[in-house]
Amino acid sequence: MVQRKNVAVIGSGAGSNAEAICTYALNADCAYAVALIVSTSPGAGMYTVAAAHSIPLRVLDPEKDIAGQISDLMIEYGIELLALAGFMKLLPTQIIEQLGGRVLNIHPALLPSFGGKGMYGIHVHKAVIAAKALKTGATVHLVTEQYDEGRIIAQDYVDVPTNCTAQELQILVKNVEHRIYPQTISAFLRNT
Ligand code: GRF
Repeated sequence: MVQRKNVAVIGSGAGSNAEAICTYALNADCAYAVALIVSTSPGAGMYTVAAAHSIPLRVLDPEKDIAGQISDLMIEYGIELLALAGFMKLLPTQIIEQLGGRVLNIHPALLPSFGGKGMYGIHVHKAVIAAKALKTGATVHLVTEQYDEGRIIAQDYVDVPTNCTAQELQILVKNVEHRIYPQTISAFLRNT
């Protein structure tokens, strides 16, 4: 029996990566349990995932200190790794330090290309198409105090189909994200 480590997922998007991370935890050899889902806005995505998997959901209060709220939740739920999935802000450094650097993010492109401030969501895929890139993909990386700059932990790619739209590319890349992010979290926890 694997000794599972507590993971929290934080974000404000559709919640598809949170869903993939929770579903992967159903595997017997998964190295983590999702102990908490944190939403940075009262959007529906994270609510649906948390309800479907019976995982506690906490919503951050934008009027209060974000770092303090996240820090308290990490302690309350005994979190050993924080997975960013559609977290749109820079994570306060104190959280990275508190978790001993065990904070991961997924980016919808092959970093270091198409990363940095303003490179999020559909903008990334539009930029990939505008650059006529032949390949794109997803990158799991360590989180630092800069956008998309931490050490790359895992990457996988897809070919960019001829004449595809940014929306079509986003779907292809999300499939890559859902495949590599949960596996990478589990493998990372086994090795750290
Ligand atoms: C994903 O595309 C991820 O790469 C980026 O934010 C998006 C979140 O999507 N960091 P979802 O909420 O997981 O569907």
